[in-house]
Amino acid sequence: MDLESILFRQGFGSRRQCRALIEQGRVAVAGSVCKNADAAFALDDLTFDVDGTAWRYREHAYVMLNKPAGYECSREPQHHLSVFGLLPAQLAARGVQCVGRLDEDTTGLLLLSDDGQFVHAYTSPKRKVPKTYWATTRHALDERQLTALSDGVLLHGEKAPIAAAAVRMRDEKLLEITVNEGKYHQVKRMIAAAGNRCEALHRERIGGLALPPSLTPGTWQWLDDEALQALRGG
Ligand code: URA
Repeated sequence: MDLESILFRQGFGSRRQCRALIEQGRVAVAGSVCKNADAAFALDDLTFDVDGTAWRYREHAYVMLNKPAGYECSREPQHHLSVFGLLPAQLAARGVQCVGRLDEDTTGLLLLSDDGQFVHAYTSPKRKVPKTYWATTRHALDERQLTALSDGVLLHGEKAPIAAAAVRMRDEKLLEITVNEGKYHQVKRMIAAAGNRCEALHRERIGGLALPPSLTPGTWQWLDDEALQALRGG
C-alpha cells in the first residue's frame, strides 16, 4: 500500500495532510525518512515513525483505557471532558467508539475500537459478556442485600428482575458485583433496589480481561493478542 494511504487509514488526517506530512520529511519507515507519498510498503508487521513517534500499522484499533472520573463516553460531551481527549488524535480520527459506556463518575476499564463487529459483539445483550465492578456503598452491606442482588431485583422500566451473575462482599462497604447486561446505570440502580446506595463505581474486568495495575488512570494501551484472548475467555 502507498505511504499516503497507510497514514490516511491510520488516522493521520486527510489525504492531503498525510501527503504533506510525508513530503515535509516527518515520516520514516524502518528507520529511514521517506519523502515519497507514493512509495509502496507491505503491511505485514509494518512500523513507521511520525514526528519521531513509532506506530505499527493496524487494520483495526483495539484499545483499553483506564477511565478516570469526570470524563464522558461521548464525542460531544455535555458537562465534562470527553474520554476521546485521552487518546491520540489519530485514534479518534479513525473512528474508534466506546465498547459500551461508563457513567461520567465511573472509573476503570473501558474498551474502544473502530471494528464495528467487535463493538457490536461486546455490547450485544445476546452475548452476555460478564462485567465486574467494585462498588463503594453508602451503608454497610448485609446478607439480605447480597441475596436480593443475586436473586434478582426489579428495576424501574424493566419487565423482569435482573440478577447479578456474581456478588461478593470485599469489605463492609465494598461490593464486587458481576453483571451480564449493560443497561443504563444498571449497577447503581441494582444497588439502590437492594436497599443501599452506590457512592463510587469502578469497572475492574470485562470477560476474562482485568484492568492491568500498570495502566494508571487516564492512560491507554493497545489490546494485544493476549488481552483479546483473555477478553474472549471470560
Ligand atoms: N452500571 C452503572 O450504574 N454505571 C456504569 O457506569 C456502569 C455500570
